[in-house]
Amino acid sequence: MSTRHRILTGDTPTGNLHIGHWVGSVKRRVELQSEHECYFLIANLHAYTTRADKPHDVHRDCIEVARDALAMGVDPEKAAIFLQSEVPALSELTYLFAMLLPFNRVMRNPTLKDELQVKGLADNYSFGFPLYTVGQTADILAFRAHSVPVGEDQVPHLELTREVARRFNKMYCGVADKAPDEEHEQLGGIFPIPVADVGKVGRLVGTDGQNKMSKSLGNTIHVIDTPKQVKKKIGKIYTGQDSRQPTDPGIIDPEKNPLFQYLDVFVNDEDMKSDIRDRYERGDNIGDGEVKMLVADAINELLEPMRERRKAYEDDAVVLNVLRAGTAKAVEATETTLAMAKNASGTGFFPRTVSFC
Ligand code: TRP
Repeated sequence: MSTRHRILTGDTPTGNLHIGHWVGSVKRRVELQSEHECYFLIANLHAYTTRADKPHDVHRDCIEVARDALAMGVDPEKAAIFLQSEVPALSELTYLFAMLLPFNRVMRNPTLKDELQVKGLADNYSFGFPLYTVGQTADILAFRAHSVPVGEDQVPHLELTREVARRFNKMYCGVADKAPDEEHEQLGGIFPIPVADVGKVGRLVGTDGQNKMSKSLGNTIHVIDTPKQVKKKIGKIYTGQDSRQPTDPGIIDPEKNPLFQYLDVFVNDEDMKSDIRDRYERGDNIGDGEVKMLVADAINELLEPMRERRKAYEDDAVVLNVLRAGTAKAVEATETTLAMAKNASGTGFFPRTVSFC
């Protein structure tokens, strides 16, 4: 039944991964890696849109992200984890694709606009900031990926990618103007028109119960947290009402009571969950502490094998070896595409090989 797809996705490295990353993306990657050809990008060039002045931090974050992804179960035998800055085809295709996109089209991207606004950059952003969106089209198309698992906020970037792919295939590969997306490859196009595979799981709320889980807000639970720290953090979650007694009716709407979002996400036993919800809502002798204990235990059960796996990757050299192998695989895949794209676009003259020492 299964068809093996090429899958590319990635993250800007921002430091250690937390259970919000697990819920929002890493879990899905671990599932996909057994079925499909997977490439997981560490977008360290993208990180320079805002942190060009912090090269050592970004360098370190790349290693931390890789280490945590490996701890969470990304398997280097199955998936390639790689560094954007070490795959030359990505930068080369960015240059070529930038020529196919009207400047105003790039600037119309709502996610880009939003980022510039949120980061308060107004007219003070680098030339490279909007260029990163073009870079992202190259990240995806360089692998001729069919599917890109991402969060909702990345969909505008996928739309841009699809436009670039269509334009390239028409301009340089003779694909007819009205060709349906699914037929581009059969019709001689180099690039499949990739689809966004948008995760169903929303963003996990942080332990402050207010904002999404995010390192900069200090409301995270990390793989490296000890069982005791997890208990303590869960113990502090606000449950939607002050000083509730075990016999008070409680709020089970996960929007209003983050503890119940955690229960939904981390406790697997459906019967137990519905029993807890039922009793909590009625105030049937169930304290917040009991639910918190259950949630903390479930999270610790999830984290335990991750903590264990992480031990094998404590040494940076081990992580770097994984990254070297993954990046070499990414280079191989993307050099093939690049050669095709250069030939099609008249920019190719000499065959070449790229290798690492
Ligand atoms: N823009 C993505 C983020 O910040 C990271 C990213 C870069 C990416 N290139 C990509 C995601 C290609 C998916 C596909 O999270």
